[in-house]
Amino acid sequence: MNFRYQVLPSDCEDVRRIVDSTGFFYPDEVDMAVELVQAHLEQGPDSGYHFVFAQDAGGVHGYTCYGPVACTRGSFDLYWIAVDKNRQQQGLGRELLEHTEICIQASGGMRVYIETSARELYRPTQRFYERCGYEAEARLKDFYAPGDSKIIYVKHF
Ligand SMILES: CC(C)(COP(=O)(O)OP(=O)(O)OC[C@H]1O[C@@H](n2cnc3c(N)ncnc32)[C@H](O)[C@@H]1OP(=O)(O)O)[C@@H](O)C(=O)NCCC(=O)NCCS
Repeated sequence: MNFRYQVLPSDCEDVRRIVDSTGFFYPDEVDMAVELVQAHLEQGPDSGYHFVFAQDAGGVHGYTCYGPVACTRGSFDLYWIAVDKNRQQQGLGRELLEHTEICIQASGGMRVYIETSARELYRPTQRFYERCGYEAEARLKDFYAPGDSKIIYVKHF
């Protein structure tokens, strides 16, 4: 597997396919994932959105999107991580996150924040973050909707 940091126009379609394949996201969330790629294509790093793509001869199989949090010293957000449904649970998500953490540290990042839903559907995702060394630091009750709370995970370097 190769890891790529430049963003290509073809990534719009690949991100849509990968995010859609997970079955986790509403259509407007899929659109939002693609919009972040478009923002980087138009504005480059000034967009605030940076990417790591995992690919081989068969195509792009997963990606992360991250960026610095404005007005902080060393805080970064992980906006998206998704691995194609057919490639999940084979270690690719962990590898992508590790490459992303290296990029963040190289940019002066000292901690990474990840927000996710506390819904049962996201239990495997929560488990993934915990297995990758993230700690659930805050829980915002009913944040997304009544009965749908937000969990904020963090890792300090
Ligand atoms: C979450 C996601 C990125 C993980 O990627 P992945 O390639 O499947 O995960 P990995 O194979 O690298 O797993 C890494 C660790 O997490 C654990 N893990 C992964 N999926 C898991 C699951 N469904 N249930 C329990 N643990 C899981 C693995 O056991 C592994 O732990 P270990 O190495 O200690 O054994 C991927 O499943 C995905 O795209 N999910 C849907 C989208 C999503 O939820 N994105 C995050 C919100 S933006």
